[in-house]
Amino acid sequence: MIDYQPLYNILLDAKADAWVKLLPGQIANVFNSTKHGTLSQWQSVIENLPKLTTTHRLLDADAVQIGQSDNLPEADKMELEQRLKALHPWRKGPYNLFGIKIDTEWRSDWKWDRLKNHITPLNHRLVLDVGCGNGYHCWRMLGAGAKMVVGIDPLLLNVMQFQLVRKLYGEAPVYVLPLGIEELPYGLKVFDTVFSMGVLYHRRSPIDHLMELRDCLKPGGELVLETLVIDGGLGEVLLPEDRYAKMRNVWFLPSCETLVSWLKRCGFKNIRLIDVTPTSIEEQRSTEWMQFHSLKDFLSAENPQLTCEGLPAPKRAIIIANNA
Ligand SMILES: C[S@@+](CC[C@H](N)C(=O)[O-])C[C@H]1O[C@@H](n2cnc3c(N)ncnc32)[C@H](O)[C@@H]1O
Repeated sequence: MIDYQPLYNILLDAKADAWVKLLPGQIANVFNSTKHGTLSQWQSVIENLPKLTTTHRLLDADAVQIGQSDNLPEADKMELEQRLKALHPWRKGPYNLFGIKIDTEWRSDWKWDRLKNHITPLNHRLVLDVGCGNGYHCWRMLGAGAKMVVGIDPLLLNVMQFQLVRKLYGEAPVYVLPLGIEELPYGLKVFDTVFSMGVLYHRRSPIDHLMELRDCLKPGGELVLETLVIDGGLGEVLLPEDRYAKMRNVWFLPSCETLVSWLKRCGFKNIRLIDVTPTSIEEQRSTEWMQFHSLKDFLSAENPQLTCEGLPAPKRAIIIANNA
């Protein structure tokens, strides 16, 4: 069980009383629910994890590292590997846990490398990572000096993967809460840096998403936004008629210029496009730890510049901006 009291204390200090009133109920609603078929199995995978201790923790490396291979007898290592595999598929990483290398679907470290030298240093900052997946980037943010990192993600498997990793790491000011951004209270205005990476195109209303992100930031705070974009000029946006790269839940893919104009309209200042990178089949691929189809299966067999639906293949932009 994670002790959330240190999180509440920091939020109270930051005057987020309204959220602290809501949070215990929000967390209990999810974890005490019997509605989710597999949740209790995942919880027992984590609860029955043998007590493993290590002083080896490395958060500023490509793979988040906890423990080393020779910290564990072979039998314990095999058991840990089995428990990790019970939480398949592992999409975001990589991790190296007591010598077990979790080669995840995504090389999420590549995204981190693209942005880490452009953001305001995270030292002593309160950070929110919206749609944080299993929390891989939250660990990297903590490793970059953040005072506290709060990730939110509504997908419970992600939250359980985080909880397993955190149990191996031990107490730390990093939390992944089982919430969507729409469940945060209005007018939060508490975080110094807010990340939204890979989320905007999943939202039916991208403008509302940008306003929600702004609402989480202190005045002057920094937004780090990463999303799918298309080539094109001001005003150009792709709204797929149906699926995009086989995903059902993809809505708006703006051109970079359009995205910048949306941010301006939402009141952001100092807007900087820092990176545009096409996603490669080396960055997103099937592995032993994510055995389902991946990017290569979602692209056109004849033309890898197109998705299998004939739309522009995934290209991602990173934009940094400040709350006014
Ligand atoms: C493409 S993944 C990106 C993960 C990570 N941020 C990254 O960049 O590697 C999108 C994540 O957003 C989460 N998500 C979807 N709807 C959300 C919402 N309403 N609020 C917060 N997160 C959401 C999904 O569960 C998923 O983990």
